[in-house]
Amino acid sequence: MSHRPILVAGNWKMQLVAAEARHLAKEVAQAAADHSGTDVAIFPSFTLLHTARTALEGSSVALGAQACHPAENGAHTGEISTTMLRDAGCRVVLCGHSERRAAGVSDAEVGARVHAALHAGLRVILCVGETLSEREAEETESVLARQLAEGIAAVAESELESIELAYEPVWAIGTGKTATPDIAAAAHVFLRGQMVEKFGDAGRGPRILYGGSVKPGNAAELLAADEVRGVLVGGASLDGASFRGIIQAAAGGN
Ligand code: 13P
Repeated sequence: MSHRPILVAGNWKMQLVAAEARHLAKEVAQAAADHSGTDVAIFPSFTLLHTARTALEGSSVALGAQACHPAENGAHTGEISTTMLRDAGCRVVLCGHSERRAAGVSDAEVGARVHAALHAGLRVILCVGETLSEREAEETESVLARQLAEGIAAVAESELESIELAYEPVWAIGTGKTATPDIAAAAHVFLRGQMVEKFGDAGRGPRILYGGSVKPGNAAELLAADEVRGVLVGGASLDGASFRGIIQAAAGGN
């Protein structure tokens, strides 16, 4: 099995307007070109996809979206389909980000979105993660197992090459409280075990990204943890220099 390179992904969330997005996307493209052994992706908001796509022309940076609806089209006011995302130049989509789950998207609905995205030819980053109260109640593994099982319920072994996972403990998102490398490793090793249980050796293929207060100063130690093969970055992806610092850390510090 060929080993995928480390993936550094920037989730811009509901931030930036077009002029800022253009500038930042160009900075990301340059950083990715300077570290071509590392995979880089950005996830701008829907209204910025066109701007980012234009700014990324000729770059290896993958353009992604933060969410999608499972239906191909129809009467779903305010939603966006995988067909539309493909048309807008997206190659990948986040499914099950905790901020979408908190807004009411259920585990089963996340699974439907994963299925729709793969069917449309998009890559998927399936996000899972426990809240602080779930961690304190020692439910971390059962939450991760449930979110993963429902998220990949309809995924065939042949589709694994189009999937990555992201472990994003909710208590570490936007809080400055990064998981220690040991905490990240324990969750990642558990998720890998679940994947191998379901898919056998093929379950080793998908990268598992860590997300939650990743910064240039902590990226290297997180990426050195067991089974951490990428990072999903929120706040620090909005600043060109700090996102470059994370890409640099992923590339081994050059
Ligand atoms: P922060 O890096 O701002 O904690 O956000 C993490 C995240 O939610 C990425 O999807």
